[in-house]
Amino acid sequence: MFGDVKFVCFGGSPKRMEKFAQFMVGQLNEKIPAGMTLSDISHGSDRYVLYKVGPVLSVSMLYHADCKDVKFFRLGTSGGLGLEPGTVVITDAAATLGMILQHPAFLDRDLCEQLQEIGTKNQQYETVIGKTMCTYDFYEGQARLDGAFCDFTEEDKMAFLKRIHDRGVLNIEMESLCFAAMAHRAAVKSAIICCTIVDRLKSDQITASHETLEEWQERPQKIVAKFIRKQLGIE
Ligand code: URA
Repeated sequence: MFGDVKFVCFGGSPKRMEKFAQFMVGQLNEKIPAGMTLSDISHGSDRYVLYKVGPVLSVSMLYHADCKDVKFFRLGTSGGLGLEPGTVVITDAAATLGMILQHPAFLDRDLCEQLQEIGTKNQQYETVIGKTMCTYDFYEGQARLDGAFCDFTEEDKMAFLKRIHDRGVLNIEMESLCFAAMAHRAAVKSAIICCTIVDRLKSDQITASHETLEEWQERPQKIVAKFIRKQLGIE
């Protein structure tokens, strides 16, 4: 069933990945027989959803499925640093603990550049390559002052954010390091492509409307869809 899979796309929210799968049906001109619909193949699990649209899959477990030459993509959202919210960031290195540490969490440079080239064709927003800081939580760990606990001041926060920004960190999220390390360990080419939804050099709060956030979340999906279409020779 999974032997033809070439592109595996991971996202945080089950709903987002269902919408992405529906979007890919149109993008790949997949024909769903009349009276049938896409269904969550992992329906027995309450931990994740799994949709298959031609050679595109949303979650892993590929080793025993005989897949060859597969690419992994993490599609998500993040807090940006010094970027217009809505900017798409393609990660070239993931780091944690407020310092740039050396982890075997490498991402595929060529894949990053191909995705950036596709993203850059869209003039409505920027697509940039940069470092992503990966954290264990959304509030204290990302130098936010509006969480349940906070032992630092606005000045400490800004000094920290400016320091990491000066070292090339363009966005902050919570999955990249594990994703990059696991894909690298499995020798699978991978990319992390997240839309920023707030500029953390200006604010802790995400104030964009629901509609705007939905549109921003679709940006990485559209870039990866174009990449897949190009790889399959239908773009
Ligand atoms: N996701 C994060 O982890 N941080 C943000 O600021 C936004 C999205």
